[in-house]
Amino acid sequence: MLLQLAAERIAPHLPEAGVEIAEWLEYPPKPEMGDVSLPCFVLAKRLKRSPQSIAAETADKLNEADGGIRAEAAGGYLNLRFEPSVWSARLLRRIADDKFGQPDWGKGRTVVIDMSSPNIAKPFGVGHLRSTVIGNALGNLYRAAGYRVIRVNHLGDWGTQFGKLIAAYKRWGNDEALAAEPIRESLRLYVKFHDESERSPKLADEGREWFRRLEAGDDEARRLWDTFVRASMKEFDRVYERLGIRFDHVLGESFYNDKIGAVVERLAEQSLLEESDGAQVVRLAEEGLPPCLILKSDGATIYPARDLATAIYRKETMGADMLLYVVGAEQTLHFKQVFAVLARMGCTWSEACRHVPFGLMRMNGKKMSTRRGQVVFLEEVLDEAVARAERMIADKNPELPNRKEVAEVIGVGAVVFGDLKHRRMLEIDFNLDEAISFDGETGPYLQYTFARASSLLRKGRDDVPDRADNIDGVHLSSPEAWMCVKMLCGYEEALAEALRDDEPSVMARYLLDLAKAFNRFYHAERIVADSRSERRAKLTLVSLAARKLQSGMALLGLRTPERM
Ligand code: ARG
Repeated sequence: MLLQLAAERIAPHLPEAGVEIAEWLEYPPKPEMGDVSLPCFVLAKRLKRSPQSIAAETADKLNEADGGIRAEAAGGYLNLRFEPSVWSARLLRRIADDKFGQPDWGKGRTVVIDMSSPNIAKPFGVGHLRSTVIGNALGNLYRAAGYRVIRVNHLGDWGTQFGKLIAAYKRWGNDEALAAEPIRESLRLYVKFHDESERSPKLADEGREWFRRLEAGDDEARRLWDTFVRASMKEFDRVYERLGIRFDHVLGESFYNDKIGAVVERLAEQSLLEESDGAQVVRLAEEGLPPCLILKSDGATIYPARDLATAIYRKETMGADMLLYVVGAEQTLHFKQVFAVLARMGCTWSEACRHVPFGLMRMNGKKMSTRRGQVVFLEEVLDEAVARAERMIADKNPELPNRKEVAEVIGVGAVVFGDLKHRRMLEIDFNLDEAISFDGETGPYLQYTFARASSLLRKGRDDVPDRADNIDGVHLSSPEAWMCVKMLCGYEEALAEALRDDEPSVMARYLLDLAKAFNRFYHAERIVADSRSERRAKLTLVSLAARKLQSGMALLGLRTPERM
């Protein structure tokens, strides 16, 4: 917002800059240098003048005009300083407008987000957690910017592993265990299947035979498969519920079974299919990629073919203008191949497909591995986080009435934010002690800051003007108050940058900076002051900071208790 304002103020005094001025303006690295600065170098070249003289001349004109802005030339830069007593009140009024932070950049455009997508009968892994949390935040960010968002959970519910699972179940299955702890029981069956088939190769044939029956629509195979799907879904839904996540569609890979044939036909018609060792592939040498496998030698379809059918469905039936895939970086090649095949098929919209990858996350040093049954169950991590949050509350605020509820919100928020605050491609070593602390760069720190602001607002309830009307900016001219106002002005810019890079961490970092600025203001000043005019001004700032903290945290999927 400040860049925009600065551009409007400078333009009349520097018409030579034209509209480009908005692109040149920047926030100086240190607050001592001012609020906004204009590097005059590009313009200097164009006008064949020195940047120093352009900066100095424009500074003089701005200072003469006196619009509550002080200008200064320094080393080819034009630095602007907004006069807080003039500007804080005006800016807060703009921030209080409902439209601020709800731009309509995406109006009329639909984004389909592939997110979470765990595999049936396997534990909900940390990778799926990341996909869920990042995908959900992106969904919220796009929606805040006016897009129509469709969240799709692309469940891994098909493949030869289901034949193995059924074979193992027929031999060693335990119905009680399957009902009580379906994923642990399925995992036990997988591990047993793998161990035993090393000794008895017949078992592998049994697995293949069951998968063949499943694909052929055999009653018993279908029924058992269905049991596994339902049982796993129940477990996954518990996690989604705790994270507060809803999908518009939960469509497993099996949903595309009857849609793959048409894709294979189309590929064949377009002469894109080639044989390779009995399998059917699309060669992508021109794109510098290895061939994309479409049909195995036994005619079975595989993962890439499913993704082709899926993308076409999302485009044609769901009306996607943008297709995002929030999936671990290890699948980068897969998505490159799928998008390249789509392009070969003449789907010009393949350019609107985007893989949004992320790096590995370790939980307290442990890596995920399902094969040997050594896994960290996500629910256990959440439970542990909640238990610690509860101990912290018992310590800090033993009187809190709804302690359990608040502990859940803090514990889950700590895990979610512990993920989102990192740029998504970084590998994360998730450390619960760190993530749950109230005074690090954490979710609980943000929540605590919001609760602090809420408590001030309870005290001064009668002194918060509705739309930041009639407040006197004189009371908001300390460096701390001004810094807090400036941070609030940056909300929409953070939203824009987060969307530009599909990077929720931009919003996470912004919220940490806002919370820090707010806390500095809180410690430096007496907010519930004696004079009414002063109380009104300061509480308005508190109220808007609370509002933006809350809406920003909601974008990331964090809840905000008013007391904790
Ligand atoms: N179920 C897959 C896995 O766990 C992820 C699916 C991602 N989405 C997709 N359209 N391929 O690896």
